[in-house]
Amino acid sequence: MSNDKIFAAPLNVEDVADCYFYHTMELPGYGVINGDWDLRRGLDDYLGNVVFAGQRVLEIGPASGFLTFEMEKRGADVVSVEVTTDHSWDFVPYPAFRLEEVLGPRQIVMQQLKNAYWLSHAAHHSKARVYYGDVYNFPAALGEFDVALMGSVLLHCRDPLRIVEQCGKKARSLIIIDMFHPDLEGASICRLAPTPQNFLWHTWWHFSTQFFTQFLAVMGFTTSEALSHQQYHRGKAYTLFTIVGQR
Ligand SMILES: C[S@@+](CC[C@H](N)C(=O)[O-])C[C@H]1O[C@@H](n2cnc3c(N)ncnc32)[C@H](O)[C@@H]1O
Repeated sequence: MSNDKIFAAPLNVEDVADCYFYHTMELPGYGVINGDWDLRRGLDDYLGNVVFAGQRVLEIGPASGFLTFEMEKRGADVVSVEVTTDHSWDFVPYPAFRLEEVLGPRQIVMQQLKNAYWLSHAAHHSKARVYYGDVYNFPAALGEFDVALMGSVLLHCRDPLRIVEQCGKKARSLIIIDMFHPDLEGASICRLAPTPQNFLWHTWWHFSTQFFTQFLAVMGFTTSEALSHQQYHRGKAYTLFTIVGQR
């Protein structure tokens, strides 16, 4: 059983100007708010065409919560895990003098992202809950889940397989969504994304689909074939993949 004490008290956010919307979202009372990613057209594919009715879902990294509230609309009871203020990202360890310029602004954006989640939460009269904590060490109080969703988050995390492992212990179905890199296909590999030149402080990895299907098989999950789909970032189409694993 989960213990409700670990979940965050909702933030009272009333002004869209205090928010950063990662997702384009249509909110009751506000209309359509444009965000960086518009997942509306490709939502079912993004979520692996999984049926959410009656499912308890663990969502890693909700951002502004578009997926949270869509899964909830489909009948899921959603618990999301999000970064804390103290550990606001797994920053790639570039030299301190280079990171300094991004850390301050990042703290502000991350608070605005959480504000967007809570403003949307209120607009939807959502019952979804958030645990701000360590994604590498889930507390037992989170409880057990039918489904764990890792949407476009593992590429940003230093130890993605630890997160998959943790989710695999808590849920009997896993959904992994990430960017599709055709040049990596055919082998179970991931590639380090940051270089000294690109200053990619927020993103660690490019994955092949086999990297995850093999690891899920190692953990005893059977997997669907990776489904590729197009999603839109500021109007430009990108190809992503979704893998669903079940045990
Ligand atoms: C790129 S957004 C993806 C949002 C959403 N899951 C989706 O698929 O559209 C990444 C999300 O993961 C969260 N995140 C990044 N690193 C994390 C970490 N180490 N632990 C927990 N959440 C993290 C971010 O704060 C953000 O909410």
